[in-house]
Amino acid sequence: MSSPHIAFIGSGNMARAIMGGLINNGFDASNISATGRSQAKLDQLKTELGIQVTTDNNAVIAQADVVILAIKPQQMQAVCLEIQAAVEQKKPLIISIAAGITIPMIQNWLSPTLSIVRCMPNTPSLVQCGASGLFANAACNTEQKKLAESLLQATGIVTWVDKEHLMDAVTAVSGSGPAYFFLVMEAMQEAGVKLGLSPETAKQLTLQTALGAAKMAQASDVETTELRKRVTSPGGTTAAALGVFEQQGLKASFELALKAADNRSKSLAKEME
Ligand SMILES: NC(=O)c1ccc[n+]([C@@H]2O[C@H](COP(=O)([O-])OP(=O)(O)OC[C@H]3O[C@@H](n4cnc5c(N)ncnc54)[C@H](OP(=O)(O)O)[C@@H]3O)[C@@H](O)[C@H]2O)c1
Repeated sequence: MSSPHIAFIGSGNMARAIMGGLINNGFDASNISATGRSQAKLDQLKTELGIQVTTDNNAVIAQADVVILAIKPQQMQAVCLEIQAAVEQKKPLIISIAAGITIPMIQNWLSPTLSIVRCMPNTPSLVQCGASGLFANAACNTEQKKLAESLLQATGIVTWVDKEHLMDAVTAVSGSGPAYFFLVMEAMQEAGVKLGLSPETAKQLTLQTALGAAKMAQASDVETTELRKRVTSPGGTTAAALGVFEQQGLKASFELALKAADNRSKSLAKEME
């Protein structure tokens, strides 16, 4: 497929991030259409990105090779039932980014035979620095998986999981993950201020250190454990701080926290069935 037509059902924050990334990467805006409820918001989007817009969800399906479901999880059932006949006729690749909505649920609302990719993006996608987990159902062929991957790469890196239940773990690690790092940055800034730094200085040093550590870890060919050891001289300042983290059970806290997020992701999916 040379230039697929992509239809976004829902054009909020996440859909805009993907559309913006695609267009920045050279994807032809005339091959993108998007829906929403507010005509005013859609008109603004059309002006900003040059894509086609409509409030009619069914109207975009007929020309779509890929349909990206980018509405809120609570709206998924009603919207799927609304577009079910058009989707069944056209049989596009379906990509859902709705948190907690499983492939069996989408199959149940749309059609049991569709090729469906489920994606869990995260908020840094809004600055093209996202991390998305993907899972494809058995109906997806290699070409469709490659297509889904290339579309989601417009917002950052993508990684596949081979079992759908692992999307809950993806949610726990990268979906909710930005908030964990925000919390760490918040705590470091507050602690820096208590040591006498101005809030602005504590913020600058903390944010750049977070960015630098992440970049260094990505660029390095050794594990983060090794990087940590390399900057920890015995008896030094870093060792003093890390000793406190160990004593306070930081790793155990992370294990419990991510388990709680994984459990919550599973129970949210059950609530939406
Ligand atoms: N934001 C994140 O960090 C994040 C992370 C992971 C996953 N997700 C998932 O991404 C999805 C979208 O999230 P978001 O943050 O982009 O939400 P959002 O900004 O609230 O966008 C929702 C969009 O859906 C549209 N919409 C609502 N009802 C509709 C209908 N019946 N037909 C067509 N369009 C309709 C809204 O249009 P109007 O504005 O005109 O009402 C809006 O454009 C969610 O399922 C969420 O779980 C988000």
